[in-house]
Amino acid sequence: MIKNVNKIGVLTSGGDSPGMNACIRAVIRTGIHNGKEMFGIMRGYTGMVEDDIIAMESRSVANIIQRGGTILKTSRCMEFFEPEGRKKAYENLKKHGIDGLIIIGGDGSFRGAQIFSKEYDIPCIGLPGTIDKDIAGTDFTIGFDTAVNTAVEAIDKIRDTAEAHDRLFVIEVMGRDAGYIALHSGIATGAENILIPERKTEIENIIAQLAEKERRQKLVNLIVVAEGEEFGGGNEVAKFIKARLPLLEIRVCILGHIQRGGAPSCMDRLIASRMGYHAVESLVEGRHNVFVGIVNNKINYIPLDEAIKKKQRISEEWLKIVKILAT
Ligand code: F6P
Repeated sequence: MIKNVNKIGVLTSGGDSPGMNACIRAVIRTGIHNGKEMFGIMRGYTGMVEDDIIAMESRSVANIIQRGGTILKTSRCMEFFEPEGRKKAYENLKKHGIDGLIIIGGDGSFRGAQIFSKEYDIPCIGLPGTIDKDIAGTDFTIGFDTAVNTAVEAIDKIRDTAEAHDRLFVIEVMGRDAGYIALHSGIATGAENILIPERKTEIENIIAQLAEKERRQKLVNLIVVAEGEEFGGGNEVAKFIKARLPLLEIRVCILGHIQRGGAPSCMDRLIASRMGYHAVESLVEGRHNVFVGIVNNKINYIPLDEAIKKKQRISEEWLKIVKILAT
């Protein structure tokens, strides 16, 4: 039987990602279009636990589609992972009469939603909001496109100075334990090496290549390293290379949180708007405890139970292409 949802709460949780605001806007406006009462839950699950919940209208989300960050703020709420915290959260939702939830976040946020939806009778819909692109069952996550473009812009600039000095640069990008930002930004900037957690780092090959370049005095070389790569990031990779090739001049650049900020790209605004719209439509249609993704340009619904078990796999095709193009 379809459970009629009348009051919908939306929250952003975990690391923020560019496009979250565009998504909140789409959720609020689609809800209002469907005659629902809409609520913003502040600071992720923390707002649920601490009753930091506000009524939202169409104008509450005016002029935010182009803004990075999240107007609802975000957090990683440890209390929500305790039964007592979830009980408080449920009581607060009941107090407001909220009977449907939309959670914009990454896999940790989906895990919270999955546990909550098992214990309480409030349907939850997840939307993949993370720069890491590590969620299986969707071709896109909100924020990845912007983050990877930010990384590309920065790496292009680094190449200019690397060329000027004939230097080796090790550039660390984000991604937690996923290598997608490194892979895509590395390919797009023509990086000579890309190190990602999903593949064993062939460090001896890299050392041999660098030794040969050193011999020919052709040292411009960009190594893009995912933060979760087996050596433990850019500084560690640079240290290892320096120990083996002490005459090399190496610079390390850790791009860090600039990858999370800034105005969302057109692509992120579009997918955020589309996913936000479909999240509300799915609640209205009676779907529950799924996340909304896009696969081959079609909306895809994945049960939260499944979503938390799988990680997006790195494409073998890209790995093959990297090997050929980066030589
Ligand atoms: O999950 C998004 C992300 O930016 C990861 O790429 C990164 O490892 C992590 O969050 C950083 O988290 P924090 O902002 O808490 O340092």
